[in-house]
Amino acid sequence: MRGDIERILIDEEIIEKRLDVMAAEIERDFPQGNLLVIILLKGALVFAADLLRRVPRQLELECLNVSSYHGGTESSGVVNFLDRSFPEVRGRHVLLLDDILDTGRTLHAVAERLRTEGAEAVHTCVLLAKERPREEEVNADYTGFVIGDEFVVGYGLDYQGRYRNLPFVGVLTLDAIERGGA
Ligand code: PRP
Repeated sequence: MRGDIERILIDEEIIEKRLDVMAAEIERDFPQGNLLVIILLKGALVFAADLLRRVPRQLELECLNVSSYHGGTESSGVVNFLDRSFPEVRGRHVLLLDDILDTGRTLHAVAERLRTEGAEAVHTCVLLAKERPREEEVNADYTGFVIGDEFVVGYGLDYQGRYRNLPFVGVLTLDAIERGGA
């Protein structure tokens, strides 16, 4: 797997230091009680696990399974909600966690849905934000790293379902992309 990485963009140590800062910001910004954290599966799993263990407060956790990439390197443009049920969010302050803000369609669609379902406030937090025009007007309230407009894997992010368990964020070799993750 490591041989498929052309270049490490953000290593483990740098991610960990940044998460310390983000967790402290979240701890500072939210009043005690009523915080519901929603993790967008599957990409935000690793980020969420490492970030939330640094936040020393009571919170509740929910997960939402949404998909727009369908395994490839470009967003399909359609955000699908894959769960049969939706968490109860009425009156809640929600912190939405995702791994990457790219076109913005996913965060926008989920934030809209949360508001429609009655959430009192929706805050957004991403590990990575691509520096590129968004297809939807959406911003993250907390951003780990701003990166260039290139396809990255690792630390939760996949290519054809693989590479999520790499401990860093990196760029695949052309060969690995052409092999389609095989
Ligand atoms: C990826 C990623 C974000 C979204 C970002 O999800 O995890 O949720 O796309 O792209 P956008 O800003 O263009 O909407 P994906 O559909 O690959 O599902 P996954 O999290 O299961 O990998």
